[in-house]
Parts: sequence; structure tokens; C-alpha cells
Amino acid sequence: MINNTSNKDLHLKNQTTIIIMTLFYLFLIFHQLTGSMAADSPSSPYKPQDNIAVDCGSSGINNQPNDDRLWEGDINSKIFPSQNQNTASVTYTASVPPTEVSPTPYQTARLSRSQFTYSFPVTPGQKFIRLHFYPAIYGDFNTTNAFFSVKTANYTLLSNFSAFLTTRALDRQSIMKEYCVNVEQGEVLNITFSPVLSSNSDSFAFINGIEVVSMPTNLYYYPADQNRGAIFVGQSSLYRIGNETAMEMEYRINVGGALISPSGDTGMYRRWDLEDDYLTIPGYSVLPVEYKNSLNFTMIPPYTAPASVYETGRSTGNIKDKAKLQSYNLTWEFPVDSEFNYFVRLHFCEIVKEMNRSRNRVFYIYIANQTAENGADIIMWSGSQYTPIYRDYVVGMFGKGNGKKVNLSIALHVNPEEWRTAYLDALLNGIEMFKMNDSDGNLAGPNPNPRIVSPTAGPPSKQGSKGKNNQTAIIGIVCGVLAGVLALSVVGFLISRRQRNVKQPSSVDGTTWWGPTSHSTTKSGDTRASLLPSDLCRYFSLAEIKAATNNFDDVFIIGRGGFGNVYKGYIDNGTTAVAIKRLNPESSQGAHEFKTEIEMLSQLRHLHLVSLIGYCHDDREMVLVYEHMARGTLREHLYNSDNPPLSWKKRLEICIEAARGLHYLHTGAKHTIIHRDVKTTNILLDEKWEAKVSDFGLSKEGPANMANAHVSTVVKGSLGYLDPEYYRRQQLTEKSDVYSFGVVLCEVLCARPPIVRSVEKRQISLAEWARNCYLNGTFHEIVDKHLRGKIAAECLNKFGEVAVSCLVDNGSERPSMNDVVWGLEFALQLQESAEENSSEMKGGDEVAFLSYSEDDGKFSCSWDDSEQKSAGTKPSSSDQSSDTNQSIKGMSGTVFSEINNPKAR
Ligand SMILES: *[C@@H]1O[C@H](CO)[C@@H](O)[C@H](O)[C@H]1NC(C)=O
Ligand SMILES: *[C@@H]1O[C@H](CO)[C@@H](O)[C@H](O)[C@H]1NC(C)=O
Ligand SMILES: *[C@@H]1O[C@H](CO)[C@@H](O)[C@H](O)[C@H]1NC(C)=O
Repeated sequence: MINNTSNKDLHLKNQTTIIIMTLFYLFLIFHQLTGSMAADSPSSPYKPQDNIAVDCGSSGINNQPNDDRLWEGDINSKIFPSQNQNTASVTYTASVPPTEVSPTPYQTARLSRSQFTYSFPVTPGQKFIRLHFYPAIYGDFNTTNAFFSVKTANYTLLSNFSAFLTTRALDRQSIMKEYCVNVEQGEVLNITFSPVLSSNSDSFAFINGIEVVSMPTNLYYYPADQNRGAIFVGQSSLYRIGNETAMEMEYRINVGGALISPSGDTGMYRRWDLEDDYLTIPGYSVLPVEYKNSLNFTMIPPYTAPASVYETGRSTGNIKDKAKLQSYNLTWEFPVDSEFNYFVRLHFCEIVKEMNRSRNRVFYIYIANQTAENGADIIMWSGSQYTPIYRDYVVGMFGKGNGKKVNLSIALHVNPEEWRTAYLDALLNGIEMFKMNDSDGNLAGPNPNPRIVSPTAGPPSKQGSKGKNNQTAIIGIVCGVLAGVLALSVVGFLISRRQRNVKQPSSVDGTTWWGPTSHSTTKSGDTRASLLPSDLCRYFSLAEIKAATNNFDDVFIIGRGGFGNVYKGYIDNGTTAVAIKRLNPESSQGAHEFKTEIEMLSQLRHLHLVSLIGYCHDDREMVLVYEHMARGTLREHLYNSDNPPLSWKKRLEICIEAARGLHYLHTGAKHTIIHRDVKTTNILLDEKWEAKVSDFGLSKEGPANMANAHVSTVVKGSLGYLDPEYYRRQQLTEKSDVYSFGVVLCEVLCARPPIVRSVEKRQISLAEWARNCYLNGTFHEIVDKHLRGKIAAECLNKFGEVAVSCLVDNGSERPSMNDVVWGLEFALQLQESAEENSSEMKGGDEVAFLSYSEDDGKFSCSWDDSEQKSAGTKPSSSDQSSDTNQSIKGMSGTVFSEINNPKAR
């Protein structure tokens, strides 16, 4: 190895010392202008296990001001073993240091006219590889001549690549290329640089900096054993992005927000760019929106993206004028290479206060001019406001570009069908876009401007994409430019950078340094923890569990079930309350099955499912640790307890939330998961009265496991909730849960158990009684006396319709849980509008509320509405619905338009 750095450029260096200092000062200003000096977040949500940053062509450990990232020089380093093939490479310092980016790692480079390889002994797993290039003049190497390829064992990352042409086209000094690859067990990550040796023998390869940084497992990939994947746009299928696929990051955008520097990322040193260069504004103004409170990372891990990505977004801004709406698409355009598939991740978070429930903001998403979503509904995906979520798409860009860049567009369009959405609005918070390798393992595209065929030519003078700002580029190639000229060009650069609106990729910007390490958040040292995704599910030692429950002391028991007892305990030095379920050794299955099921459970994350925190499997103990639900079961708040009765609206909200949780169980996971034991004691309430479904999962999965479910002849479920069809035909489907949920709805309305033996025969089974009353038009008779006069007639009617539809005999005729959610939300809307209306009207004479008089312990009812007063005549259900239309005629038009047209769905 030769190191020419110190002697050759010595006088040049002296000459430029002052310039460097000036430039550094300007660099600081520049960074302040672009906001990339964002403060380091003190505790990153993720610490990468491998966190390698190589400053090629230098020695020792280097860092840069304002960044604690340490770059290790490759001279005499084990990462760059001096084997034969590598001896031809040399190292130099750039004759002109970079001004746009920090000196480390850009000012030094390794260069060679023959092939050389870096070997990284990394842990197995998914990694980022980042390559940094600063095409300047290094000794007698002029990087305008450098054309080379970069390969790993299986993939071609770059081919016939010219860093010079690429940076020129982008109007930048430097370029960073980021890749995602998986390293198998026992594999050494080799990165090989090979100059293209064609007619021009001057060609060489060079590199300024290399990073290899671990990423959380399956942050961007999908595990092989699951049927999950990105939505394959235009193909109506899923695309599973597996470990065999390498990807090149093309764009990573903080929509509506500021630039986020690598040190502001969640620990992976990703850079999030501004959207300005990509947003097309066709006439209408768009509203950036912003939110500044804490977000709930309940659906996705907090390392997915920095909170500031979700705290800002861009919306179309509730377009009220439908004429304008027809011509309005909020569109971003990204130049990409054609003939590749692209992976697009869209980040969402509902951060606008008014948009507080699903169906408030339903919109369309188009990717590459194809429909990707025709009912995008952020809250439906995320479960609640301020809860970040993302959606993944894969789109092919084939037969379009003819070797040139093509635009991949992402467009949001508001939903013109008013009955589907309360607001004509759309929102997006972040975009990530990756190129996926082709079938040959290739990721390389052509250089941006193929017209330059003679790399020996001097600095081309007309290569700037817009013919402006050429001074900037010259910085990179002219050696020994006078200080004045340099300073001028930097100032020129700063000005033009501020005004720049060139649509070009920014994945290539050079200021990217990435960072720190470690995989497992498991607190226990037990090796068995590694069998499961430790990010999702924590392993507890038996000692920890015993400490938390005082050795399973009975005084901590908060529930008993067929599977065993549930204890309340405290973990993490008594700071966190948890529910600890100790499975009965006799009643539970084998260890393998236990683990498989935990794996499945730990993947299930939903705001309305009680989350599994961890498990313990030790000494034949099988223990599950769940989040603790402070307010206990729903049943305790309905009857047979001293708790004050819940208001009708609260009950509706609880039903909606529980229905959402069940909907997620049925549709959100690998297989349909059938709860099999839906009841009011399995719906739990947290301290904020948020409802969550519990006790799922140690039941059977859906269709995939059907055969097994049949073998076990035990019909699981609780008396009074059992689907009669399941009982008759032993055929378990998710519609059995729908039936049980129908019973729950009746229970919530009537505040009585599903089976009461001490009453007259027709009332023993709540489901049967409620259904008969609904069909006979006497549904209001069975309502909880505490709700007397509090339920709007139209709401009760809708609620009854939903409940009874769940209880129909034939499972296939029952609604899906999604339909149930919609129906209940609609009922809630009806109730809210009626309440608003009646408080406005004071007398409430246009709104029919039910009121009751108690009569021999049975409830009877009369209507406030004078028309219905005549004793004995109860409105039939069809009477009720015509009454509904009448009663809402005075309502404001701001609620869902479905109200004006009850048959709309
Ligand atoms: C990686 O490089 C090391 C050292 O240069 C070499 O021994 C090994 O064979 C290479 N592995 C592959 C897969 O190319
Ligand atoms: C919005 O963009 C999509 C996809 O490009 C297109 O199909 C749709 O017609 C556009 N809508 C309007 C109103 O321009
Ligand atoms: C990506 O490259 C690998 C290795 O060559 C190959 O096995 C895989 O099929 C490629 N992926 C796609 C989507 O073609």
C-alpha cells in the first residue's frame, strides 16, 4: 500500500488552508440553513449491532464536528487486508476538499486501476451498505475518468458507474448510495470495486467512505414463513420482499417537514430529505400540517421512522368546492431507472384534531398512475389518532424509460363519493422508495447522462442539468482554484441551493453518516429469548416472574380460567403493572406449540387487542405476560357489580373498539384468527376506558388449522355466546365470533347475562329474546333501565339492526366484523347528532328519545314523540325507521351523509 497523502499535496494544502477554514465556516452556515444540525437524540430507539463506518484512504479514528459518529481509517485496518489483489490500490487526499459536506469521510479516498475488495466480518442479518463518493482530483487521478463497478457476492450494486457524471447531473459535490442486503450465517460481506477496463486505460475505481450498519430484522423485509407482503400495485396480490432481494434506497422523504440528518434518525443513520424537489403543485395550494405532542407507537416499532416524520405531513386541505376537487391530485414525482420493481413505503399518522375516527378522511392513492388504495383510511389502519402506521407497495416500472430515467409518481386524490368520507381530504407523512434487484441480482442503472462517451475529455462544461450553477461542480474537479473564486462559488452555491427546484434524486446526497448498535431488547440473558423476535416479545426468567408475583401468591390473583390463574404483578423494578397468566401444566399443550403460539401472538399488535409483553418457559412453567388493564372486564361495568353504569355513548365506543380488535384478529394476521371465546369478560378496559380484546390466540388459527380444530371434539366457547351453527355443524369460522359479538352487543344494551335461568322461558337466552323483540318491534323494552331516555330512537334502531344481523342462524349471512364496526360507528354518529340537536332545540321535540317506566319489574316504554304516545302500540321496526327519517329532519348536514340516506351502504 502506498500513501501519498502527505508529501505530494503538501504545498497545495498550505495554499488551501485558509480556504478550508473559510469553507468550513460556510459549511457550518450551510448546515444551519438546511437544518441538518438537528440535535442528536440522546436515546435512539434502535442500536445497530454492526455499526461500521470506514473512512477510506485515511488512518486512525476520525470524526467530524457536530457529530459523534466515529469513522475508522482503512489504512492498516483489518477491514482492508493487504492481500495481493489489494496492493495496487493507493490513497490520496482530495486536492480540493468538499464544501457542501463535511470533510470526513469525503476528503480522502482509496483508488486503484485494478480490482480491490473490502471484507466486512459482520453478524448475520439484514444490513445497510452505504457508499460515499466525492469525485474530485486525487493526486494524478482525475475522477472524471473513473468508471467502475461495485459488487457483493450475489449482487451488482453499481456498474460502469461514474460518480462524476452522477453528481454533475444532480448538481451536487458528492453522492451517497444506500443498499439493503442480507448477510447469511457464516458469510463474509465482501465489497469489490472493479474499474471498467475498456478502450480507456486511464479508468480506475475509487471510494471515500463505506458504512455497514445493521437494521432491525424485517424493517424492510417480510419473513418467509408468513403470507404477508407489500401490496403489488396493479396485480391484486401481495409481494413478499425476502432476504434474497437486495434493494437500493432511492428516496426517503419527510413529507411536509424538515430535513432530518443521519444523527436525527432512530439509530440507523438514515437521512430524511425535504420533499420540495419532488412535489408538483398544479395550481392549488396545499397545506402542510403539523402536530407537536407525543405519538403512540402502538402499531409499529418506534425505530421505524423518527417521530418528526409522523408529526408533519401534507394534506390537500379539506377541499370544499367539488368542482375544484375534480381536477386536483396532490402529486410527488421521483425520477427512477426503468426496468426495475420499486418498493414504496408510505408513512401515515392522523395528526389533525378534527379527524378523530375512521371514515373521517377516506382518500385514493395512486402509485405510478395505478390505483394503490381506493379507500385509504389512516385511522382504520392505525386504530386511533396520533398513531403512526405505514403501508407497503411494490410497483413495476417496465417498458417505459428506454434506458432513461422515468418519473414514478405518488398521488393522493380525495374521495369524491361523499357518503364514504366526512371530509374531502387526504394526508401523507413520509415516503421511502427502494429499487429492487432484477433477476440477475443487478441493481445498477445507467449513468444519468450517457452523452458523455469520452471520459478522457476535460471537465465538460455543459453537463449541469439546468445549465446553471456550474461553479459548484467545478469545485470538484479544478485543482488549485484561487480562494476568491472558490469563496464566490460557494456563496453562489448557497444561493442557488436555496432556490433550487431541480427534480433529482437526493438519495445521493453525501452528508450521510450512520450509526450505533445491537439487536436485542431482551432484558433477560436467557438464550432462549433469541428464538423469538425479541423486539416484539420479551423473555422473562422464572425468577423474574416469581419476584413479580411473590412466588404466585394467591393475593395477587385477579382472574381464574380453565387454562390457569391470572396474577397482577409488577416488573422492571416495580414500575410497570402487568397481568401474568400462569398456564395450567395439565391443560396446556407441548412446549413447541406454546412457542409457536407466542410467536404468532407477538406479531399481533393492535390498539384494541391486549398486547403480549413476554413469556416465560422454564422448569415446566408456561407463563404469559400481558399488559395490565386497570379497569378490568367490560362485564364488571355492566351488571353484578357496584360500578356506576356506563353511559350509552361510552358503551357504543367500547363496542366499536372491541369490534375493531376482532376485525384485526380476523384479517390482520397471517391466518384468520378465530377468537372462539368472545364475551364481555374477555373485553378489558384500560384506565382511559379504551377497550381491548383479550384471551385470543391460545385458541386456534383459522382455515389453515381447520383440520386440527375438527379433531379436537371439544366445542370451545362459553354458554350463551356459542354460535348455534358451530354447535350443530362443528364448523368453526370467524362468523362464530360475529355471533358471540352479537350477544355481547345485547348484553351491553340490556345489562344482563346472556343466560338467566330464573326468568320466563322466552327470556332465558338473551340472544333469542333480543332477536324476537327486535323482529316484533319491541326492542326498546329490553334496554337497561339506566339508559332510560338516553338513547336516540334512530340510534337504537341501528344498533339493534347490527346486533340482530350478527345473530342470524346462517353464518354466511352474518356481517363481517368490519361491517359491524361501520354499523356501530354509524349508530354512534346518530346518537351524537341527536344529542347535539336536542341540546340545540332545548325541548328536543324533533328528536325521539326513549323513556321508560318501570312496571312490575319489567320495563315498558313510551315515546316522547307525541305520535307514539298511544299506550300499547309499540312501533314496529319499519315504523321506527320512518320515524328515524322524520326525527332527523332538523339535523345539521355536517354529520355523515349516510344519515340523509340510511340505505347508502
Ligand atoms: C471474501 O473475501 C475474503 C478475503 O478477501 C476471501 O477469503 C473470501 O473467499 C471472500 N468471500 C467471498 C464469498 O467472495
Ligand atoms: C389523479 O391521478 C390518478 C393517477 O395518475 C388519475 O388516475 C386520476 O384520474 C387523477 N385525477 C384527477 C382528477 O386528475
Ligand atoms: C435478486 O437477486 C438474487 C440473487 O441474484 C436472486 O436470487 C433474486 O431472485 C433476485 N430478486 C428478484 C426479485 O429477481
